[in-house]
Amino acid sequence: RPVSLKPLKKAVLPVAGLGTRFLPATKTMAKEMLPIVDKPLIQYAVEEARAAGIEQFCFVTGRGKTMLVEHFDVAFELERTLAERGKEKELAALRADAPAPGSIMSVRQQVPMGLGHAIWCARAFIADDPFAILLPDDLMQCEVSCTAQLAEAYRETGGNVVAIEEVPRDRVNRYGVLDVAEDHGRLVSVKGLVEKPPIEKAPSNLTIIGRYVLMPEVISHLARMEKGAGGEVQLTDGMAKLIGSQPFHGLRYQGRRFDCGDKAGFLEAQVAFALARPDLAPAMRDILQRYG
Ligand code: UTP
Repeated sequence: RPVSLKPLKKAVLPVAGLGTRFLPATKTMAKEMLPIVDKPLIQYAVEEARAAGIEQFCFVTGRGKTMLVEHFDVAFELERTLAERGKEKELAALRADAPAPGSIMSVRQQVPMGLGHAIWCARAFIADDPFAILLPDDLMQCEVSCTAQLAEAYRETGGNVVAIEEVPRDRVNRYGVLDVAEDHGRLVSVKGLVEKPPIEKAPSNLTIIGRYVLMPEVISHLARMEKGAGGEVQLTDGMAKLIGSQPFHGLRYQGRRFDCGDKAGFLEAQVAFALARPDLAPAMRDILQRYG
């Protein structure tokens, strides 16, 4: 175990994408404000990060995304009304959710030029520290916070760690894919990464999901603004340049992922999260039976 590792306290949440797959819902509203049951995606991501000991958050936002920052502010009028109406439980829940003052900041990505570019926009926030990345449209259902699992792997390996899962071969072309050096089961050491490879050229079927812990040196690689798959500045390409000079591992995380940027994944998440709630599970089971 490396001796002088910097603690992981920072997370970047890129939320500047256009969310075209959810139009018209995302015409005036951020995709990350879409609720699963009764909580917006962004709040699940912040809670997951907090459960991993993250204390500072940077949202990379764009046009029409101010509501995401507002969501974490104190709503004075609402709190007073709840207090006046004796809604103590709701009030306590709102207050428990509130992040520490000054712990959330946002930077602007004026033009969505790709995920790598979005991360580069957070460079002043990242400075010289290791940082987590959470893409809020990947919603995780894990006993131990997925980001906490990555944080633990970071402490073990002393370097970059990305959450990975196996996908059927015919779907590898949608993801960042690992070129595996050594597969140790839970941890996989990586000798290369490729974004959205053609199926026949994919080096494996181990793919990166929207959870990362990266070292700050990735920023200098992203700064070159080299365009990759789809003409975008790809985070995967920036990360690939770290390999060789820093430890780089994939982590087979424990839990499930719901791709809420996709309509079917979003609907499945509604069902799974409702079934996990004791207050809603009986009603949801009843609904499923009627439509089954
Ligand atoms: P997606 O590939 O899901 O794109 O981005 P999108 O624009 O959000 O949604 P669709 O495909 O048009 O429906 C993955 C993540 O990267 C962020 C998005 O906000 C999302 O969290 N992102 C992507 C940025 O912040 N900036 C970019 O330039 C691109």
